[in-house]
Order: sequence, then structure tokens, then C-alpha cells
Amino acid sequence: MTVLVTGGAGYIGSHTTLLLLENGYDVVVYDNLSNASRESIRQVEKLAKRPVAFVKGDIRDKATLAATFEKYSIEAVIHFAGLKAVGESVESPLSYYENNVCGTVALCETMASYGCKSMVFSSSATVYGDPQELPITEKAPLQATNPYGRTKLMIEEILRDVWYSDKEWKVMLLRYFNPVGAHESGDIGEDPDGIPNNLMPYIAQTAIGKRAFLSIFGNDYDTRDGTGVRDYIHVMDLAHGHLKALEKLSEIEEVTAVNLGTGKGYSVLEVVAAFEKASGRRIPYKFAPRRQGDIAACYADVSFAKRFLEWEAERDIDAMCTDMWRWQSKHPDGYQHKEET
Ligand code: NAD
Ligand code: UFG
Repeated sequence: MTVLVTGGAGYIGSHTTLLLLENGYDVVVYDNLSNASRESIRQVEKLAKRPVAFVKGDIRDKATLAATFEKYSIEAVIHFAGLKAVGESVESPLSYYENNVCGTVALCETMASYGCKSMVFSSSATVYGDPQELPITEKAPLQATNPYGRTKLMIEEILRDVWYSDKEWKVMLLRYFNPVGAHESGDIGEDPDGIPNNLMPYIAQTAIGKRAFLSIFGNDYDTRDGTGVRDYIHVMDLAHGHLKALEKLSEIEEVTAVNLGTGKGYSVLEVVAAFEKASGRRIPYKFAPRRQGDIAACYADVSFAKRFLEWEAERDIDAMCTDMWRWQSKHPDGYQHKEET
């Protein structure tokens, strides 16, 4: 089976591509390299010991999409491509709607015209906004608090409408909690541009000495130790969830949303302690004011994923930190060759 992986050169896409290749799928990676390096795919090929078809293309570019569907017999799409920085989306909302929403519309139109109607979509726990109840089930009310989150909500709605108009579509919405870590080889991982927005890459860069200290955003939340609590999930467990989703796709009868998390919440201070243990390095930190838009706590109810996908995250916080540290220490500057071709 040939799977088109949009955004396949990015963080989660590259790990999922590797697992797909290892499980016998043929993969076409489609990425405009706006937030990725071609090098990630080279590393994936090395690890999988198989070549990967790569198209440098934008999901808004219907001509390149069509040429890709002409060339390959694509049966399903895993759709990772998108912009994902919350702060940037507040400053530049139109580019987020253009890229994420218009891009998805162009992708769906092309898929439909080639009779490919199976999609696994990268949604996010951000669609739950500030949750009223924890753990969060898939039935919790949906709400977005920033343009990035709204693109995810809009795309979920668009995909529901597409299915409603043509029941041949099979669409799964995977709502990721907080993906972290790296492949156990330490040769693929998250390679943020500039100063990381997210906790785990910031901690890793502090451990290696690229950042002087970690600012912990808020220590007065109503949580165990006052710092924010999140459901961190190892990126390889997440990748495995996509394989399960692909396997189940043909069985679903409506657009189906599934939480991908571990079901456990860790505070910022607990993550710092776990990373110190994994790396043997001290992580200097200072408490800073709360970050605007942050919520106190967020973790998943994973019972539906267990029951329906027959999938469950296997790696704990120690494995997440150990693998993240291996990637960071083997590749302190991320992917070295950031050329655009
Ligand atoms: P990433 O930035 O590493 O990967 C996204 C990839 O999409 C990049 O390689 C980028 O070059 C590509 N891309 C962006 N716009 C494109 C376009 N118009 N055409 C073609 N390619 C394009 O991000 P990631 O962390 O791997 O996230 C993958 C998906 O998962 C995204 O949709 C993101 O919103 C979603 N998600 C991520 C997280 C997270 O914390 N990492 C959490 C929830 C959901
Ligand atoms: N944090 C710090 N210092 C930092 C970075 C983060 O204290 O330098 C704290 C945050 O305040 C929060 C926790 O660490 O309590 C996790 O923050 P992240 O930025 O790593 O993750 P978020 O939960 O804020 O956001 C992530 C993605 C979003 C996505 C959301 C839900 O970045 O895109 O998960 O899936 F919407």
C-alpha cells in the first residue's frame, strides 16, 4: 500500500515515515521544507534501509499535488503538513488559515479527483481549549483559543462536511497531546528553528549548554507543585498510533476522533527532574510569569484509543527523556545540512 505523508520531513512525520517503511508500506513524502530539512528523510532512509520517494511540494499547490497522484498509486494520506506555532499564529493569523486550512482544502480536492478518500489527520489536544474536566475524553466540548487551534478545529469540521457529502471518505482525526522524545537511534528528532517554544526541546538545549536556564512559566497553578501539567507522549508511540489508525481506517463508519496520549500528566518540575536523571546534567531554571494562553493541566482519557485502535503508549517519561537526550547529544545542532532540495 502506498501512503502519501504530507509534512513527512517534519518531526512527527519523519518518525511515522520510518515506522511505515519498517512495516512494509511504500511512502511518498510530500513536504515544502518550510520547517524541515531534507536530511531527516536521508536519515530515515538509512535507518529503514529503504529509499523513500520525496516530493518537494506545497499542499496549496494543486498542480504539484496532481502530478504526485498521477505518478504514484496513492491509497491513503497521513496529513501532517501545517504550521504549528501558537504565538506566530496570533501574529500572523492569515498565513495560518492560508497554509493549514486552504492547504487542506486543496489536498482534499486533489484526493477526491484521484479517488483517494482515506485520510489520517494530525489534530491536537488544543481543540479542547481549557478543559472543564480531566482526563479529557473525545466527547469533551471543543473550543479554540488561538488561530492555530482554530485551524485544527476548522479542518476537523471541513473533513466532517466532506464525509457527510460523500460517505466513501474514511477520516480519522488524531488528537495528539504533547509529543516529545526521538527515535531510539538518536539520529532523527525534533529540530526547532531558533529558540524552542516547547518545554522538552528547551530543556534539552539547556542541558547541552545552548541555553543558560529554563524559564518555568508559572508556579501558582492549581496543580501538585504549582507548575503546568501535560500529557507527554513519546513520538515513536505516537508514530505507532498512526499505523494502527491506518489499519482501522477501512472499518470506520463516520469521521472518528481519537486522543493519542499516555493518560498521565507530568508537571514542568517533574519533567525537569526526569531529564536531569536521564542526562546526568543539571537543568538550571527560574520561575517566570505564566505564559499567556497557557492552561493549568491537560491530559487524555485514552480508553477509546485502547479499545478502538487497540493501541496504547508504551514508553514512560524516563524513556522520553533518555531518547530526547540521545538525539540532542548526538546532534547538538540538529540536522546539519539544511539545504532546500
Ligand atoms: P513540523 O513542523 O516538524 O512538521 C510539519 C511539516 O509540514 C514540516 O516538515 C513542514 O515543512 C511541512 N509543511 C508545513 N506547511 C506545508 C505546506 N503548505 N506544504 C507542504 N508541507 C508543509 O511539526 P510536527 O511537530 O511534526 O507536527 C506535525 C503535525 O502535527 C502538524 O500538523 C501539527 O500541527 C500537529 N501537531 C503537533 C503537535 C506538537 O506538539 N508537535 C501537537 C499536536 C498536533
Ligand atoms: N513551559 C515552560 N517553559 C518553557 C516552555 C514551556 O515552563 O520554556 C511550560 C508551559 O507553560 C506548559 C508546559 O511547559 O505548562 C508545556 O508547554 P509546551 O509549550 O511544551 O506545550 P503546550 O502544552 O503549551 O502546547 C503543545 C503544543 C501546542 C498544542 C498543545 C496541545 O505546542 O501546539 O501542546 O496539543 F496545541
